[in-house]
Amino acid sequence: MDIKNITIFGPGLMGSGIAQVFAGCEDLKVTIFIRENFEYECVEKIKSNLNQLKEKGVIDEDTIKDIFSRIKLTESMEEATKDADFVIECIPENMELKQNLFMNLENYCRPDTIFATNTSVMSITEIASKCKNKWRVVGTHFWNPAYLIPLVEVVKGNDTSEEVMDKAIELLKHARKHPIRVNKDVPGFVANRLQHALWREAISIVEKGIADAATVDEAVKYSFGLRLPKLAPMENADMVGTDLTLSIHSYILKHLENSTEPSPLLKEKVEKGELGFKTGKGFQEWTPEQIEKSNRELREYLIKVIYNK
Ligand SMILES: NC(=O)c1ccc[n+]([C@@H]2O[C@H](COP(=O)([O-])OP(=O)(O)OC[C@H]3O[C@@H](n4cnc5c(N)ncnc54)[C@H](O)[C@@H]3O)[C@@H](O)[C@H]2O)c1
Repeated sequence: MDIKNITIFGPGLMGSGIAQVFAGCEDLKVTIFIRENFEYECVEKIKSNLNQLKEKGVIDEDTIKDIFSRIKLTESMEEATKDADFVIECIPENMELKQNLFMNLENYCRPDTIFATNTSVMSITEIASKCKNKWRVVGTHFWNPAYLIPLVEVVKGNDTSEEVMDKAIELLKHARKHPIRVNKDVPGFVANRLQHALWREAISIVEKGIADAATVDEAVKYSFGLRLPKLAPMENADMVGTDLTLSIHSYILKHLENSTEPSPLLKEKVEKGELGFKTGKGFQEWTPEQIEKSNRELREYLIKVIYNK
């Protein structure tokens, strides 16, 4: 693989996790561009993630030292870009910021440096639009926590070259991620379209009084949620038969939520300041202990599934 040097812009929640992923490869070097003093906090974030993996017996202290030996932090744009083979931006979800960063990077990076964006939903084509070499811009959508969730959606913008797609996929496989190829630059790519189709229906069921929020989650956790990692929708449709799937869809689709606007109930929650974990109340009420438990148990569960620890 000819990619050796990765540079991260925006070392926040996602940027620090992604830096950690690449620094986990012995033959890669990671440079993190630091803009403001507080951004050095990314080191603490990475340390805390790695310590959790150490406590669970996934890695040892020597591995943590090795990972940090492959990470360099710099406040110099020249230093951050001069050897970069693959840049990934994890700066805030703002089109102009992302466009301007890539446009500016063309003045610093080699002409063949790949520019990857970790945008959650925005168009790769539009993010690339101020670049001269638009073919080098690709979407690499990691999921939080980036160091645990295997999936990365590799998204082709209208101008992204096949070679850049292939190189991004090769790099991510090398970093022990599970990249998938997204052939069209559409909002939500693949996984968020699926996820939010489910959330729209879930919220609608609560809004219509069919079941309360906790019950909706129970329905998922104790039924198809259990088998999803082994049996996802397309295989499931073949398993039960496309004929049965057609019969079910002919009957049910007209009854499902199809609003193209966010739910009024969701809007009302936000207006009332019922923001979920952030305020202790959303669709359900949450004590600080329950919030801590939910966050901790999710990571423990993911470590168990991924590392069997
Ligand atoms: N949080 C998630 O679950 C998640 C998941 C997938 C993708 N994403 C996407 O990843 C990107 C980063 O999200 P995050 O949650 O890590 O955000 P974050 O706020 O944790 O991190 C953003 C980083 O960008 C830096 N930054 C702020 N303004 C900047 C500027 N003008 N120029 C350069 N850097 C700047 C911040 O200091 C910080 O280090 C966004 O595009 C987001 O949509 C987020």
